[in-house]
Amino acid sequence: MKTVIITGANSGLGYETAKKIAKDKEYRVILACRNKDKANEAKEEIIKETDNHNIIPMIVDISSLHSVRSFVEEFKKLDLKLDVLVCNAGISPMISGTTDEGFELVFATNYLGHFLLTNLLLPFMSKDARIINITSDMHNPPGGIEWKGVEYLAHPPADDRKKYSYSKLCNIYLTYELDERLKKLGSKITVNAFNPGMMKTNFSAAPRNAAQVAFVKMTMPDRVGDLNKSSTALAEIVTNNEFSDITGKYFDRSVKIKNSSELSYNKENRLELWNKSVEWTNLKNDETINGLLD
Ligand SMILES: NC(=O)c1ccc[n+]([C@@H]2O[C@H](COP(=O)([O-])OP(=O)(O)OC[C@H]3O[C@@H](n4cnc5c(N)ncnc54)[C@H](OP(=O)(O)O)[C@@H]3O)[C@@H](O)[C@H]2O)c1
Repeated sequence: MKTVIITGANSGLGYETAKKIAKDKEYRVILACRNKDKANEAKEEIIKETDNHNIIPMIVDISSLHSVRSFVEEFKKLDLKLDVLVCNAGISPMISGTTDEGFELVFATNYLGHFLLTNLLLPFMSKDARIINITSDMHNPPGGIEWKGVEYLAHPPADDRKKYSYSKLCNIYLTYELDERLKKLGSKITVNAFNPGMMKTNFSAAPRNAAQVAFVKMTMPDRVGDLNKSSTALAEIVTNNEFSDITGKYFDRSVKIKNSSELSYNKENRLELWNKSVEWTNLKNDETINGLLD
């Protein structure tokens, strides 16, 4: 039996993907959610629809480095090898704030918590595990974004409307940097980025969400996604043998690979982000796989 962790699995893309994966009873699905009631509700629904009883709700507030560390401690107690990690939890740029640990909330939720989670879980992954980071084509918004250094990303001015784009660019930098480091170590663990496209979910509350989707359909049809299609593709990338060797790629709203933005291939930026993330999260060499931080 294989074990999958999906963050933010009680709603939208995470929930639909969890349900699709759970249809195959060879998969145990851990729903990593911040709200216990919502996690339990999702668990019951998935069991009802799939008859797969290996659905485990676990609590994590991914924006909190402390909570991420507690989650990993709880996971270790299960004594399972992890086969798939889907870093999906995310919030929209309409939400603002600063975490108790002093990071801008969108950056901490969409990127930094997942950086720590991934690194801490790596030692517990199977040899050919798959990591999938959910990004967005808004990593390259209309008009583009310029690199302002990592301190800016973690502590932008409150009115920076591009903070979501930066956080999703960070998901891609993490994908490419981790991929290169894993390859150097001779690891068979794969890491890819997935853009689901603009979908109707709880991401930005209705009716704004419906209006946004309609606007994007009209103005940027190549950015429109579909919850059913994207969750089906994501479940395929998680489960299908066809994808076992594919790594360091950007999947675009399907199982099709595409190039991400030019900025996302900048190696200096991604190294700056990696190094600073190690410092911010206080990640130690012996907390992740041997040699990864060298
Ligand atoms: N919808 C779109 O148009 C779109 C487009 C491109 C990319 N994406 C990406 O797709 C991913 C999934 O979003 P979605 O559209 O499915 O939105 P969604 O329906 O709002 O789902 C987001 C999930 O993340 C969880 N979450 C948020 N903050 C969290 C935290 N601090 N700790 C743990 N879980 C947390 C939410 O939990 P609660 O239910 O407790 O809030 C929810 O389960 C995100 O990474 C998003 O950036 C979405």
